[in-house]
Amino acid sequence: MTDDLERLKTDTLAALSEASDLRAWDAIRVGVLGKSGSLTTMLKELGRAAPEERKARGAALNVLKGELSAAIDGRQATLEAAALEARLQTERLDVSLPPQPRAQGLIHPISRTMEEMAAIFGAMGFAIGEGPDIEDDWRNFGALNIPAHHSAREDMDTFYVPPGEGETRRRVLRTHTSPMQVRSMLTRELPFRVIVPGRTYRADHDATHSPMFHQCEGLVLGRDITLAHLKGCLIDFLRAFFGVADLPVRFRSSYFPFTEPSMEVDIGWSRKTGEIGGGTDWLEILGSGMVQPKVLANCGIDPREWQGFAFGMGIERVTMLKYGIPDLRPFYESDLRWLRHYGFNPLAPVMLHEGV
Ligand code: PHE
Repeated sequence: MTDDLERLKTDTLAALSEASDLRAWDAIRVGVLGKSGSLTTMLKELGRAAPEERKARGAALNVLKGELSAAIDGRQATLEAAALEARLQTERLDVSLPPQPRAQGLIHPISRTMEEMAAIFGAMGFAIGEGPDIEDDWRNFGALNIPAHHSAREDMDTFYVPPGEGETRRRVLRTHTSPMQVRSMLTRELPFRVIVPGRTYRADHDATHSPMFHQCEGLVLGRDITLAHLKGCLIDFLRAFFGVADLPVRFRSSYFPFTEPSMEVDIGWSRKTGEIGGGTDWLEILGSGMVQPKVLANCGIDPREWQGFAFGMGIERVTMLKYGIPDLRPFYESDLRWLRHYGFNPLAPVMLHEGV
């Protein structure tokens, strides 16, 4: 090989090994093999060489062209692999990251309150139950120690439903979630704690009453459950739910056929400003009591061995209080403007540690 070919080879190989990216590499390729590249030019000039020299130089040039082409291709592959590696390092895609979908729609305040109740009672070890809207007369009234012709049946403005096929018992749209006390006692293994949020129905309609509304029932049964447990549990719940650590809570003697003793539970607030926990006024929030022994017996549980407490509260009522919603009716009107105002982000679930 003549000196100039030798030099072209060593220069090109040196330049290639120094080229650190594809841009530098391409400049070398064009400079050697391009239309007016050095090797291309040498090949073009071959025609002018003397015939005896042309043969030897032509063969040498072709060998060199093969070597340099291979070196150039090899360097390209190396640089491309390095470029890909660099991109993989810097543009890493973490497929284990949770997706961040666009929030669409809003959580209705009723659903939100149910979720908050599930979170708070769930942390206290309660199971979350569900039951049917249509109950029989026995579960809604009889088993709960509300005898036939008792005034409570009228007080509750019951919607009656004809008996199901082949059945004789009159059915009702449940007037409260308390029939779930009966179902829980008949099916759950003792001891247990359960809350049951759900729909309830009474023939009643004005600014503060809807024929369909929601309640949350609670039932705790054990061998040595006392009134102290009832009070501690409900005080803790109300303080967590309303987010007021020193919320005043008052237990006021009352009457329900299915609890004995029975208590209405009030929270402190200001009638003037609506501030929960402020002021000197009291607001009734829920009904509660120790499960009446007759109810336990009606459900096949020995009241000498087991006792417990029950409570029930209106979901709309506590939701209106907590979020300052003045009117009950829009809860069921599906007005998007109302929902946009009072609804909750579906991608921000209830987190107890953030406060509910
Ligand atoms: N069921 C009662 C009501 O609807 C509330 C309640 C439930 C009271 C459980 C005591 C115990 O008013």
